[in-house]
Amino acid sequence: MSSRIATTGPKGVPILGVLPALRANTLKFLKHAATFGDLVPLRILMTTAYLLNHPTHVEHVLQKNHRNYRKSPMLGKLRPVLGDGLFMSEGELWTRQRKLIQPSFHKERVDALASIMTDVITTHLKAWETRALSGEAFNLTDDIAVLTLEIALQTMFGTGLGPDAEHFGEAMKVVHHVPAKRIWDFTGIGERLPTRENREFTEAVGFLRGVVSRIINERRAHPRPGNDLLSILMEARDADTNEAMNDQQLRDEVMTLMLAGHDTTATMVAWALLMLSQHPEYLETLRTEADSVLMGRIPGADDLKTLDYSKRVIQEVARLRPSIWWFARVAINDDNIAGQPIKAGTTVFISQYLIHTQPAIWDDPEKFDPDRFLPERTTSRSKFAYFPFGAGPRVCIGSSFAMMEMQFVLAMIFRRFDVSITSDKDPEFGTLITLRPTHDIWAQTRLRRRH
Ligand code: HEM
Repeated sequence: MSSRIATTGPKGVPILGVLPALRANTLKFLKHAATFGDLVPLRILMTTAYLLNHPTHVEHVLQKNHRNYRKSPMLGKLRPVLGDGLFMSEGELWTRQRKLIQPSFHKERVDALASIMTDVITTHLKAWETRALSGEAFNLTDDIAVLTLEIALQTMFGTGLGPDAEHFGEAMKVVHHVPAKRIWDFTGIGERLPTRENREFTEAVGFLRGVVSRIINERRAHPRPGNDLLSILMEARDADTNEAMNDQQLRDEVMTLMLAGHDTTATMVAWALLMLSQHPEYLETLRTEADSVLMGRIPGADDLKTLDYSKRVIQEVARLRPSIWWFARVAINDDNIAGQPIKAGTTVFISQYLIHTQPAIWDDPEKFDPDRFLPERTTSRSKFAYFPFGAGPRVCIGSSFAMMEMQFVLAMIFRRFDVSITSDKDPEFGTLITLRPTHDIWAQTRLRRRH
């Protein structure tokens, strides 16, 4: 499949170019821009950016010539929250930190977190039993966010937060939502105004940092062996200098892992529950697999390879609803992509959602079909046609963690419960940073008869 380079892109307005359209509805605008070709110029504030909508361009920017691209300054809006953590850092700092943290996410380390995850899910689902008996409808989106936050906390700290947990959850929502709204405010004026939202943001960041710092201090004062992520991060040593992370770096990394991992996973699980309830035939296959593999047991890490169909279901949800659905990179030096000169300082946009639904790559792209991920149907597809976790050296560090968590949650919910969605209309997707449902999904559960 060859790339179609467009000589013109969507029309914009004087000076601002396409910025107002991009800001008003990013997804709608990028979809429209993609109709011009696979490499499309976008005029923004007197500069030209490009939309790259072809797997070979993705490979070029994220893998082959990744050293020439850094993350976009737009992400700077997240810096007050994430500091110099892995998601934000660049250059030598990023290289050092990635080497230091990567071993914490090796398979055996992630596998060791399995029982923490399944214990949290078991406890959480007790409330589902009560609801199943009463028939009460509940906010599924919020419920899953609480579950995935508890998993994030327990796997990170080896303990919950007790009375602070609810406040922590609320603060996490604020620090997600506010930077996403600020992303197009290039002047930065809005965020300096004494508005209620800005005050809430500052308070939320202070609260989260305070909790994380307190836990780090307590752990330094009373070290205890454990397989939680914080213990592993505290033990990590730089291969060259043998140095550990200082308190500030450790806090930034903990905040980053919690934030990068929580909303992304919660959103995807919510979509998975919605999509499976809309496709009972796929749900039945997932259940048959869970029944025959688990025979009523709680799943463990060793079951993941055999829960093959549930993995395909999640892969398909991640294709159609990639939590991180677009991002931007900036060229450091002059470059050339498929014959198009790219000047130093140029922004390029890449959208997982657009590439995951391109008719030239995917048959019937809007159709939910987990079997697209059967090995025999993936061999002819470019690796860069499907990248819900990013690609290249900056690929998501938590992808196996997230896959394991999502497989456990689906298997453990559906082996015991029927879920019916009670919200009266299907959510669209909101496209701030993560591809969230535009409104909360409500559901009722019943105990599954054949349990
Ligand atoms: C469904 C869940 C998840 C999705 C869809 C997802 C997606 C992504 C994507 C697309 C990137 C690359 C961003 C870029 O290149 O600009 C990324 C990076 C990252 N993710 Fe995830 N993620 C998920 C879960 C997690 C979890 C559970 C963790 C941690 C426990 C995590 C931690 C990170 C970190 C630290 C980075 C930055 C890596 C680096 O730049 O070296 N993510 N994620």
